[in-house]
Amino acid sequence: MTMTAENDPVPAGLTRPPAASAFPPGFLWGVATSAYQIEGAVGQDGRGASIWDTFSRTPGKVANGHNGDVAADHYARYEQDVALMSELGMGGYRFSVAWPRIQPDGRGRADVRGLDFYSRLVDSLLEKDIRPALTLYHWDLPQALEDEGGWRNRDTAFRFAEYAQLVSEALGDRVKLWGTLNEPWCAAFLGYGNGIHAPGAVDPAGSLIAAHHLLLGHGLAVPALRAAAPDAEVGITLNFYPVDADTESSADLDAAHRIDLLQNRLFLDPVVEGAYPADVREHFERVSGTGHIEPEDEKIIGAPVDFLGVNYYTSYRVAGGGEPSGPSPWPGAEDVRFIERGLPKTGIGWEIDSDGLRRQLVRISQDHPGLTMYITENGAAFDDTVDADGRIDDADRIAYIDGHLRAVHRAIAEGADVRGYFLWSLLDNFEWAEGYGMRFGIVRVDFETQQRTPKQSALWYRNVAVAGGLPD
Ligand code: FCB
Repeated sequence: MTMTAENDPVPAGLTRPPAASAFPPGFLWGVATSAYQIEGAVGQDGRGASIWDTFSRTPGKVANGHNGDVAADHYARYEQDVALMSELGMGGYRFSVAWPRIQPDGRGRADVRGLDFYSRLVDSLLEKDIRPALTLYHWDLPQALEDEGGWRNRDTAFRFAEYAQLVSEALGDRVKLWGTLNEPWCAAFLGYGNGIHAPGAVDPAGSLIAAHHLLLGHGLAVPALRAAAPDAEVGITLNFYPVDADTESSADLDAAHRIDLLQNRLFLDPVVEGAYPADVREHFERVSGTGHIEPEDEKIIGAPVDFLGVNYYTSYRVAGGGEPSGPSPWPGAEDVRFIERGLPKTGIGWEIDSDGLRRQLVRISQDHPGLTMYITENGAAFDDTVDADGRIDDADRIAYIDGHLRAVHRAIAEGADVRGYFLWSLLDNFEWAEGYGMRFGIVRVDFETQQRTPKQSALWYRNVAVAGGLPD
């Protein structure tokens, strides 16, 4: 089928959404991806090795031995992918820059070939009236920096600010939405805590140190971005999970408190308040000490931001009093048990709790009044099937997105200042430790032929984006 969103602003049969489910005027409808998950071309145009190249080649780390060498071949096919987004009526595209394409060794002058790729991508987006939303760090650290300690080394924060300056000097004239980090919780605690992500270290204390250095890198990058792109919006993306205690017992309440602290507040509070809360500092004292936190660091981390990027997939119910198990991505909470609630799950096994997104947005807006937010990721993996006629009828994904968009709509009505929604993901892609088995795309990718086929969810989402709200 051909889609002609450009010529046909309101698709046939679609009327304006009822006022009750229309989103505010100007609400940005988009899709999200990240460099290592879609680009491929890992050896091309001087790109250096990243920690994900190394990690995915280490036996046993990624399901089925998959890696990002080819991925969705977006490096070669970006024009086709931009055209597809345009046909889908997208107003925004959140992508990330691969640091090792810009600085193959993580330091020194920028490689123009790397910058040129993103410059061409940005130009082709702007030609189609799609706002580029650029993330500087979506986990692909240059391996050369990891060899010097990676995020456990304070110097990496300064290298990151230098890289931010190089990219923003090249693209700041055209990119008006800048994100520093994507989900530093994952980079720190999956990367250095339980080691299920690159670089695969198992070092609870080191993972807290890495978290601090990631935040410091964010804070150091903000002024660099402001200098190069004075009229841009600058922010950070964090992954939030509302946390409930299983019972009112003090052990369960304490477990919920620690998971919320490590998952949500450790990252958000210093960014927007310029200081770690007292209980976060106490937790640091217990697990890693605070010797790595220098006096000015929190002030640097608290450089004012224009928006918070919110990634949301699920929520947690937890209980305390368990036996400390092995390494945990919540360092210092190894005893906490995660309780299944019997909710329906997505294909990756995450329980579906759309109202958790409403609760999270409302809580952030109450804890930090006036904070502007974008949903920078939300979406679902399902085991898609392709019909005999090639159609991918992913009703489960449509239901997931519909439910979560309704939650965003309710949160806005309850006072949360949410300006846009970037669906994860445009394309099926390399889902980190899960490899290509988990399909999050609204567009199917046949990884043998690289053929793209919009799923029914893509056509549904196009209608939502073009109409500016949900059907009844
Ligand atoms: C998020 C990541 C993104 C993707 C989704 C499913 O944690 O930011 O790259 O893997 O999960």
